[in-house]
Amino acid sequence: MGKGDTEVFDFSAPPRYAQGCRGFKEGSDPKNGGKTMTKPRTATPRDGCAWVTGAASGMGAALALLLARNGWTVAASDRREDGLARVVAQASPGRIQAFALDITDAAAVAGIVPTIEERMGPVALAVLNAGILELMTAETFSVAVVRAQVETNLMGTVHCIEAVLPRLLLRGRGQLALTASMGTYRGLPRMGAYGASKAGLVSLAESLKFDLDPAGVRIQVINPGVVRTPILADCPSPIPYQISAETAARRIVAGLGTHHFEISFPRPVVLAAKVLRALPDWLYYRLLH
Ligand SMILES: NC(=O)c1ccc[n+]([C@@H]2O[C@H](COP(=O)([O-])OP(=O)(O)OC[C@H]3O[C@@H](n4cnc5c(N)ncnc54)[C@H](OP(=O)(O)O)[C@@H]3O)[C@@H](O)[C@H]2O)c1
Repeated sequence: MGKGDTEVFDFSAPPRYAQGCRGFKEGSDPKNGGKTMTKPRTATPRDGCAWVTGAASGMGAALALLLARNGWTVAASDRREDGLARVVAQASPGRIQAFALDITDAAAVAGIVPTIEERMGPVALAVLNAGILELMTAETFSVAVVRAQVETNLMGTVHCIEAVLPRLLLRGRGQLALTASMGTYRGLPRMGAYGASKAGLVSLAESLKFDLDPAGVRIQVINPGVVRTPILADCPSPIPYQISAETAARRIVAGLGTHHFEISFPRPVVLAAKVLRALPDWLYYRLLH
C-alpha cells in the first residue's frame, strides 16, 4: 500500500478459513457472498474428549467428574498433582486422565494438547477454568499482585487457547469455554487485580466470537457468582448466596448445551449483579461503600 492509501477492512466478511467448514452453510445472504451461517453445534462425547484446566479442585474438579459421568473422557489438568489424583480416583476407571500442567508455562501448555490428543483423541470441548484470586486494596496495590493474576487468569488461559484453537478451526467444530467472573460486570471492592484479569478474558471471547461462529466453533464465557471453593479462602465470610461446586458444575454443563454466549449463575446473584451494573455511578458507589 502506498503512502496516503486507506486500507478498507470489511468486518462483515467471513474469515477465509470459515468458508466450506461445518459451521458454515450455503445460503442466500448476499452480505456473506451467498453464504449463511449456522450456529456452532454442541460438542458431544462422540466428537472427542473434554479438556478441563484447574481440574484438581473446586468447580474444575466437580465439572470433570460430572462430564465423566455424562459419558465424556476427560483430560484433567492442573498444577496440583495430588488433587488431580484424587479426582481421577473418584471417576470410573479410564474416564479421567490427569495431566500435570501449569498454565503460566507457555511451552508446557503448547506441548500438552498434542499429548492429550495422542492419548485421548481430539479435544472437542475445552473448559479453561484454572484461576487464582488475590484481594488488593489501594494500600496493598502492587505490580506483583496484579501481574500474578494477569499471568494466570488471562495469559495462562491465552496459552491454552493458542494451543487448542488451531485444531478446532481445522476441524470446523468444537467448544471453548473461558471461566471469567461476574466481578467483570463492574469494579468490586478489593477485586481490582482479579477483575482486570478476568475482564480481559471476557473482551477476548467477545471479539473471538465474530470469527469462531462462522468457523463452527462455539465460544462461551462462564461467569459464576459465589461458589464455595478454596479460592475464597481469603475472602471475608459469610458471603451470601454461595452455591456448591457441584451445583456450579451442573449449571455449567447445562449452559454448555445452549447457544448462550454467557453462562452465569445462580439466578438471584445474576439478577442483582445486572441491576448493579445498570445503576448510575453515584448510586452504585453509595450502595457498595
Ligand atoms: N469460587 C468462586 O466464587 C468463583 C467465582 C467466579 C469465578 N471463579 C473462577 O472459577 C475458576 C475455578 O475456581 P474455583 O473457585 O473452583 O477455585 P479453586 O478450587 O481454587 O480451583 C482453581 C484450580 O486452578 C488451579 N490453578 C491455579 N493457577 C494455576 C496454574 N497456573 N496452572 C494450573 N492450575 C492452576 C488451582 O491450583 P492452586 O490451588 O494451586 O491455586 C486450583 O486447583 C477460577 O478461574 C476462578 O477465578 C470462581
